[in-house]
Amino acid sequence: MSQYVMKGGNPLSGEVLVAGAKNAALGILAGAIMTNDPVTIENVPMVQDIEFLLDAIRDIGGTVECRPGGTVMIDGSTIRKTMVNNDYIQKLRGGYYLVGALLGKYHHAEVDLPGGCNIGSRPIDQHIKGFRAIGADVKIRNGMILAHSSRLVGAHIYLDIVSVGATINIMLAASTAEGKTIIENAAKEPHVVDVANMLNSMGANIKGAGTDVIRINGVTSLHGAEYTIIPDQIEAGTFMMAAAATKGDVTVRNVIPKHLESISSKLREIGCEIVEDDDAVRVIGRNHLHSTHIKTLPYPGFPTDMQPQMAAVLALAEGTSVVTESIFENRYKYVDELVRMGANVKVEGSVAIIDGVSSLSGAKVLATDLRAGAAMVIAGLAADGYTVVDEVAHIERGYENFVEKLQGLGADIARVDNERDLQKFKMRVV
Ligand code: EPZ
Repeated sequence: MSQYVMKGGNPLSGEVLVAGAKNAALGILAGAIMTNDPVTIENVPMVQDIEFLLDAIRDIGGTVECRPGGTVMIDGSTIRKTMVNNDYIQKLRGGYYLVGALLGKYHHAEVDLPGGCNIGSRPIDQHIKGFRAIGADVKIRNGMILAHSSRLVGAHIYLDIVSVGATINIMLAASTAEGKTIIENAAKEPHVVDVANMLNSMGANIKGAGTDVIRINGVTSLHGAEYTIIPDQIEAGTFMMAAAATKGDVTVRNVIPKHLESISSKLREIGCEIVEDDDAVRVIGRNHLHSTHIKTLPYPGFPTDMQPQMAAVLALAEGTSVVTESIFENRYKYVDELVRMGANVKVEGSVAIIDGVSSLSGAKVLATDLRAGAAMVIAGLAADGYTVVDEVAHIERGYENFVEKLQGLGADIARVDNERDLQKFKMRVV
């Protein structure tokens, strides 16, 4: 099993280029199968979750061509079946977007229930509520979501909880329903806007994405398009945290600074200097960081997907920080790992209380999920001595060339596949 090994202590410095947004790409690539014309998507991050989704699309007959540089061409005209029950789909969360896409296009979908990070119970009742509202009969049977309709008809849907997944899935299915669909209490995340823009470039008529009311005027069919995915807000934020934790000076390029505001302002609050440019954010770390309070919230609030990485930084910030996780009920599994490195963190329900320490020490730790794994890497790069992060497959589900990008910033880090390579790294990097 692969591991990351690193020796902490180097302040990261230089420039890093952020890839396209994974969570936008999942919705966009699923949406691309909704036409029988070819669709070309650029800036696709080549990470494991995306590979799984593309394999799932291939498995139902879709034609997928990956070109160098993150360009993916999808031809949905060759799709032969609407049942998606392959090994790939079970491994990722975003596979549920194929329900919305297949339902919208063929009025029928049978898709395995989603996998993904184990960060809470993650129900899909709001997706189902939306599909039913526009006329689909939806059942859960044998671990699959079965959705069928003879006709999809627009409806007024109020989401009981702000859900990125439900908002995107309903947009997909409703884009080709008859008449108007209104989604109230919709998620406002940048990736929701990106999926709406992409569907509009295919001929859909979606207005209001980015606000909490989305209006969709159904169209009879979608056509081919070329579309470029927005930069990944969470990948960018992760490098910003790595710069802060290592007291470095990193310019994160190919970003939309507006999408990073909640992250930038928290880093400013704890003492980092942030310099924004049109498409870049520079983070200048400081020797003394101060504590702060964080509460995760739907966009534009502080993202739950940045909570573990921020906690790794706060573990080294002077004073007591209070982190409240309000989106997922089980997103503190990494805390035990951070504590193994000398952090002083106590979890009480949805709250983590972090008493900053002056240094962390390297240890063997687990990547308990995708963002938790990123947090372990950040902690390891800031810690004294060697850190080995296990189960890095979680990290590789969402970060493209993570190790190479960190090496480019001066980190002593390597991906190793066996004990011999691990020892070699330790002999080389003393
Ligand atoms: C998306 O998950 C992302 N995943 C997650 O990113 C991200 O953490 C999350 O949005 C919040 O921003 C993908 O885009 C593939 P939600 P999703 O529906 O859509 C509850 C990462 O690290 N809920 O917005 O599953 C749910 O339990 C991953 O990249 C219902 O109750 O999240 C949660 O408490 C992890 N019923 C809240 O809503 C539903 O039908 C928000 O979940 C749907 C959700």
